[in-house]
Amino acid sequence: MKIAQTEFKQRRDQLAQTMGPNSVAIIATSPVAMRNRDADYKYRADSSFYYLTGFAEPEAVAVIETGEDPSNYLYSLFCRERDPEMEIWNGYRAGIDGAIDDYDADEAYAIDLLDEEILSKITHSDNFYYRIGQNSQFEARITSWLGKLAQGRQFKVPMQIKSLDCIVDEMRLIKSATEIELMQIAADISAKAHVRAMQCVHPGMMEYALEAELNYIFGQKGCVPAYGSIVGGGANGCILHYVENDQELKDGDLVLIDAGCEYQFYAGDISRTFPVNGRFSPQQKALYQVVLDAQLAAIEQIQVGVSYKQPHYAAVQILVSGLVELGLLKGEVEELINTEAYHRFYMHGTGHWLGMDVHDVGEYQIDAAPRQFEAGMVITVEPGLYIAPDDMTVDEQWRGIGIRIEDDVLVTAQGPHVLTANVVKSIDDIEQLMAKAQA
Ligand code: GLY
Ligand code: MN
Ligand code: MN
Repeated sequence: MKIAQTEFKQRRDQLAQTMGPNSVAIIATSPVAMRNRDADYKYRADSSFYYLTGFAEPEAVAVIETGEDPSNYLYSLFCRERDPEMEIWNGYRAGIDGAIDDYDADEAYAIDLLDEEILSKITHSDNFYYRIGQNSQFEARITSWLGKLAQGRQFKVPMQIKSLDCIVDEMRLIKSATEIELMQIAADISAKAHVRAMQCVHPGMMEYALEAELNYIFGQKGCVPAYGSIVGGGANGCILHYVENDQELKDGDLVLIDAGCEYQFYAGDISRTFPVNGRFSPQQKALYQVVLDAQLAAIEQIQVGVSYKQPHYAAVQILVSGLVELGLLKGEVEELINTEAYHRFYMHGTGHWLGMDVHDVGEYQIDAAPRQFEAGMVITVEPGLYIAPDDMTVDEQWRGIGIRIEDDVLVTAQGPHVLTANVVKSIDDIEQLMAKAQA
């Protein structure tokens, strides 16, 4: 499934309208990242650039110029030229003709002509939009163009320099029907990978071998991991960004997996925690149920018009009550919340926007107040509890248990819609799935 060119055009139309008359926007894709010496990372275009162009090749810059009438704007794409020799080595390029015929550019130029062509495009504008802080090298080029305009007699410098991201991020925050379809596919593939991990895990397996089972599903569906997969056995589950994944999974331990795939530029982001041997211990069960109850209560808060912070407050309330009931925290629940005494067991937020980037764009505050949910937003819900292995303030039986449960939730007028519902999370369902796989 792919996004139609008409949708990319609608996005440029909306951007041009928001920019207003006599404006120009410049947006560059990501540079190629080198891994070591002459080996590069598999290329991934910049999310906002792709969002506006549908163009996934490296070395590309889009320019949008509005005149008096923003609905009649000019869209130019600077890209790599066709080059039979280079295409033998590195593959197909759309080239100048492809940019116009296949990507709907009004004008297309070789990327090497950018410095030459750009001044005449910028100089007519009153408002100059670019992505402030995106890429220091590209920003230096922009500064040099503006400097040339300032020094040249025949040119005029734009009156105002404005943030392009402030417009595009808001557009990206509300997902279209097509984007939701793509996110559902990313969620389904990610869920399938987690189910496979539950079915494959066994004591003695290495964390990286379990990670390979996730990658198998991602790869079979033409996906890559949307971020570095976390596969942490035992106390490694307490390390929030654990990515080494190089330890043995032990009998009696839990394993925490935080992994999601990227499908057609859209991310899934799921965490599940389950017993390596298929059965939760009583302590693991007790803590797990607290996290699950917190997660379900948080999801309930995802309603149009409700503050995005509400899921966090709901989760914290249940987590802290549970910690008190189990004797890990002592005192009054409200007091423990107000003094943030729970922080050593729960030190992160409960969710973030999700979309083309795993920590997706979009403001969390509007006029210094927490933003309210709107239909079409997607947010993760990911409470956890992490009892450090060296925490001498708690009974030994609890130490080294790390649990996180994370789902991806679409805000709809009818309430929360869990995109990642295809992977089990209740204690019974997990144990049953694992027992069936072991049989
Ligand atoms: N996987 C990154 C996160 O959950 O925020
Ligand atoms: Mn997340
Ligand atoms: Mn995650």
